[in-house]
Amino acid sequence: MKLLFINGPNLNFLGIREPEIYGSRTYADLVDYIKAFCADMNIEPEIYQSNHEGALVDKIQEAYGRFDGIVINPAAYTHTSVALLDAVKAVGIPTVEVHISDVSAREGFRQVSYIREACVATVSGQGFEGYKTAAKIILEKQN
Ligand code: DQA
Repeated sequence: MKLLFINGPNLNFLGIREPEIYGSRTYADLVDYIKAFCADMNIEPEIYQSNHEGALVDKIQEAYGRFDGIVINPAAYTHTSVALLDAVKAVGIPTVEVHISDVSAREGFRQVSYIREACVATVSGQGFEGYKTAAKIILEKQN
């Protein structure tokens, strides 16, 4: 089982940005956390972060035919990007949308998710653990 983990803009600033919302653990901590649960779950992960919308589209396209699933936290592009929605639809790979914070309890503009309609599930408000929940959802759908 090969899973691609994608993180969008400003998630490289975890631990620095708004710790009251996103916590004090860093992006490096997130990468370590993902690697650890993937080792336990027999998942081969690739982990990618970019602040650039087009780079995220390129990464999703490159996954075509190469990955069994995608776990994506599109960050702010969740609320703006038709291009990411189209990319996920184009590759047809089971994809789960993840948010560290509970977006449903935040500002009105965060209630819109363009990518959601192309995703098999959304996991929100579970912190880093949400990435593991997302991986489990893809694993269960495969079996
Ligand atoms: C986020 C929520 C988004 O609204 C925000 O723009 C982010 C992070 C989250 O993980 O909670 O950058 O996706």
